[in-house]
Amino acid sequence: MRLSPRVEVHLMAGEEGCDWARAHRAVAVVVDALRASATITMLLQRGASGVIVVKEVDEAYAYREAHPNAVLVGERGGLKVSGFDFGNSPTEIQTAEVQGRLVVFTSTTGAQRLVDCLGASAILVGTPINATAVARHAVALAQSADAPIVIIPAGLATDPAIVAEEDWLGAVELAAHMPDVPLSDAAAPSFQRYRRIIRTAGLLAGFLASAHGRKLVQLGFTDDIRVCAQVDLIADVVPILTAVVPLPGGGQGVHVQRGNREYVTSL
Ligand code: MLT
Repeated sequence: MRLSPRVEVHLMAGEEGCDWARAHRAVAVVVDALRASATITMLLQRGASGVIVVKEVDEAYAYREAHPNAVLVGERGGLKVSGFDFGNSPTEIQTAEVQGRLVVFTSTTGAQRLVDCLGASAILVGTPINATAVARHAVALAQSADAPIVIIPAGLATDPAIVAEEDWLGAVELAAHMPDVPLSDAAAPSFQRYRRIIRTAGLLAGFLASAHGRKLVQLGFTDDIRVCAQVDLIADVVPILTAVVPLPGGGQGVHVQRGNREYVTSL
């Protein structure tokens, strides 16, 4: 494949990654490896017509008041939000009846990052469970928009100083699925570090050892971690932002649907 020189993979965590994606009109891939990216992917794989991602719990409640058929999915503190239909749990979604339903989703960090990337050339939701599909799509989008790719380990919105090892592992797994695209010089040390962990210990062990992984185990979500660590469990779902959604209270959410190249410059 002949790539434009601008098509390069960057790895940049949290808010800094979102800022960079907007400033460089990059193709952004948000990786909240435990568990928002997997939950959103699973919802679309189960046939949800779309996922409206909102930052605040109150925005989700208000959206459902205006659209009573909407399904509410999400967490705070790792646990299902009161009044919601499902938690931010890919294993719960594996048996959820969401075919043809519109979902409203919020989570502590992943949801914030997706909204904060608005202004990027395209915004995808990636994670090991859809790594090959998302990597191919991101490269195609970057090539057609002549834009860089930034893979964003989501981190922790409530504590920006924390290095979220699980998100870095997930982001590096995705970057490893783009072998034809050069990695930026700044990304190389992190890529090598987390690649070594994946090669020696494996993704699952890396996830389980991370601070957020340990918290999820304590909360009883070990099965979610097992699902999130399965590379290419879902071969054909590329969640991509397709529209900005004005919310009843005046804020804005973003509509995530199964991907399609037409969305490269629409945001
Ligand atoms: C988040 O978006 O902050 C995470 O997905 C939290 C979680 O694991 O529930």
